[in-house]
Amino acid sequence: MNTFEIKEKFQKLYGNGGILYVSPGRINLIGEHTDYNGGFVLPGAIDKAMYCVVKPNGTDKVRAFALDLNESSEFGLNEADKPQEGWAKYIFGVVREMEKRGKSVPGFDIVISGDVPLGAGMSSSAALESAVGFALNDQFKLGFTRPELATIGQSTEHNYVGVKCGIMDQFASCMGKEGSLIRLDCRSLEYEYVPFDPKGYQLVLLNTCVAHELASSAYNKRRESCERVVEAIAKRHPEVKLLRDATPAMLEEVKNEVSAEDYMRAEFVIGEIQRLLDTCEALKKDDYETVGKKMYETHEGLSKLYEVSCPELDFLNDQAKKHGVTGSRVMGGGFGGCTINLVKKDKVDTFVQSASEAYEKEFGIKPKVYDVIIKDGARAL
Ligand code: GLA
Repeated sequence: MNTFEIKEKFQKLYGNGGILYVSPGRINLIGEHTDYNGGFVLPGAIDKAMYCVVKPNGTDKVRAFALDLNESSEFGLNEADKPQEGWAKYIFGVVREMEKRGKSVPGFDIVISGDVPLGAGMSSSAALESAVGFALNDQFKLGFTRPELATIGQSTEHNYVGVKCGIMDQFASCMGKEGSLIRLDCRSLEYEYVPFDPKGYQLVLLNTCVAHELASSAYNKRRESCERVVEAIAKRHPEVKLLRDATPAMLEEVKNEVSAEDYMRAEFVIGEIQRLLDTCEALKKDDYETVGKKMYETHEGLSKLYEVSCPELDFLNDQAKKHGVTGSRVMGGGFGGCTINLVKKDKVDTFVQSASEAYEKEFGIKPKVYDVIIKDGARAL
């Protein structure tokens, strides 16, 4: 990203003295739809990010400009002042969530821009929330820790955007570390950095360039299914608070008490939490063949049981199998976006070229290709 442009725009609109902040998008190696079920995830921050330049303006208002949309917005900081522009709601939400946590945020000027592709499953919105949160925390010395900034971003998503997401994306954006994945326990928020340097392999993202509508309501419905199954299991096993606590045997006991759909959703999540743990063991042994096998199993589950894949993603997954890719699956929430592929280095070129050609022939769209580079999380530049 050319950061000169965003700084120049800020200066033109609001004068000198703004500070530039960045917070990245993320990949996730495995552990999908497990975060809001209290399970584990294995994300890493990437080299695509959202940027903002921020400076206090001495008023009680925010003046904001979205460089990539060439749109401005002005709003107050009280609950009733919610801005109209979709992108500005993220900024407003972060401020409101900080205020709810007892901090007072004065007015400021802000310009935002970024190069995380939208709707690609790389969490552009979490990157924006984290960039804004990190910037305000730094400018106004609010004293939030990075994990707290992640929960502020997550609550913004819940209360001002309407997606009942888990903590993975914001946590990765705030806590990312160059060269490492984060093995995060989403219930306790305990985490461990797992150095990731798969010798002889490369991670490649293939973007279907489709983002299906209603993804956020479908996402929220998946979460409700999981909650209903927990409720059914908890009648017999009150210690079960989240699907993380449930075993396959417990799920079996309530098979006739939950809908077939809810059962499938829970079956996926319980299996996925175990798959992540198995993958971490395989990573310790540099056993990338097993890691890849688990990724394919995740895709199968996301497609058949959790039903968050789509023909475009399934097609790219089939292409990966056809070209001997070690592991491949839909990444992130689903309903479009990217597949993440673990590919032997000597197979990358043939795979990317053949899969791209076949995809374009089938759907009339050229998929976008990104190499994954794992970078640090939120910071001032
Ligand atoms: C989205 C959400 C995350 C997570 C993933 C699926 O990215 O924001 O919290 O649930 O989907 O793993």
